[in-house]
Amino acid sequence: MKNYKVAVVGATGLVGSTFLKLLWEYKFPIETLTLFASERSAGKKVAFGDKEYTVQKLEEGCFDGIEIALFSAGGSVSQKWAPEAEKSGAVVIDNSSAWRMVQECALIVPEINLAHFDSARKIVANPNCSTIQSVLPLKPLEDKFGLKRVVYTTYQAVSGSGMKGKNDLARTLAGEEPEFYPYNIAKTCIPQIDVFTDNGYTKEELKMVNETRKILGKPDLKVSATCVRVPVMNAHAVSIMVELEKPFTLEEVRKAFEGQDGIKVLDDPQNSIYPVSTVANDNDLVYVGRIRRDLSCDNGLLFYCVSDNIRKGAAANAIQIAQALIKAEKI
Ligand SMILES: NC(=O)c1ccc[n+]([C@@H]2O[C@H](COP(=O)([O-])OP(=O)(O)OC[C@H]3O[C@@H](n4cnc5c(N)ncnc54)[C@H](OP(=O)(O)O)[C@@H]3O)[C@@H](O)[C@H]2O)c1
Repeated sequence: MKNYKVAVVGATGLVGSTFLKLLWEYKFPIETLTLFASERSAGKKVAFGDKEYTVQKLEEGCFDGIEIALFSAGGSVSQKWAPEAEKSGAVVIDNSSAWRMVQECALIVPEINLAHFDSARKIVANPNCSTIQSVLPLKPLEDKFGLKRVVYTTYQAVSGSGMKGKNDLARTLAGEEPEFYPYNIAKTCIPQIDVFTDNGYTKEELKMVNETRKILGKPDLKVSATCVRVPVMNAHAVSIMVELEKPFTLEEVRKAFEGQDGIKVLDDPQNSIYPVSTVANDNDLVYVGRIRRDLSCDNGLLFYCVSDNIRKGAAANAIQIAQALIKAEKI
């Protein structure tokens, strides 16, 4: 089996360090590993398995010879450097939002739409964290019953804001004043993730709307979202209301979820069995439960899903894309 020359951009960050942890855990076939971060971290040593690697800064020619480049250093870094890596011949898998809605770039959840990969354009976008865990259960519903309308309400952990978010929860839990969020995240939920746009939605909410349509290949699907930051360290939750085209039984829905790779159904509410953040922490599954009829419309369904936003919502999904492309002989 071939080994690959791999680069991680943003290797010192929350997602970047999870890339390293998972590349090791998954025994990813690595020939060489090159780590990049900002100039601040250049020269810093980072452990990978039993070796130490020196973090480098990005500069002209730094991607020469790289075959797979995993980016998680923010949108502006991806905007500038992902095309450089692509020009050098690497397949880029990018965690920022920079390339997600670019038509020629595939936006992939490997269990759903690996076929969207087009080898003419080698920058692949990794979707928004809340979107990944939401489209996984939506896909079998679309296949079996047809999706007519989707309404999301998210409960997003502070790790979704990177180290700054985790530090602000720790700081405010210790009784100090917030420095990152506009309110004390230890004491309240905050119904704002990212900045507001002119139509009253935040950018995060519009990412969920647009990315859901692109991944599922349904540009006209009716989708709305409300995204809320909650005082949980890690693992996002999403409550999903779906109006389906066809009638269904709850048993059929449960079976459809159970048949989808990447999903585990936890749904025995009488015994307090449903998805919670602590179950999802540090693994790659999307947990689905609280499956019930929506009482407000015909063919309406409500359910709740939880997943580790740094793993399946970011690093794990990106590495799974690389693994799936290798298996399909596209890299
Ligand atoms: N957290 C999540 O749940 C999540 C989920 C999906 C996607 N993402 C996306 O992943 C990216 C990283 O998020 P994160 O949570 O890991 O953030 P983070 O913990 O703040 O880490 C940011 C990383 O980017 C590096 N960086 C910053 N400026 C750079 C520059 N000019 N050149 C090179 N490297 C630079 C940082 O290096 P230094 O250490 O040297 O500053 C660090 O390694 C963002 O685009 C984010 O939107 C995050």
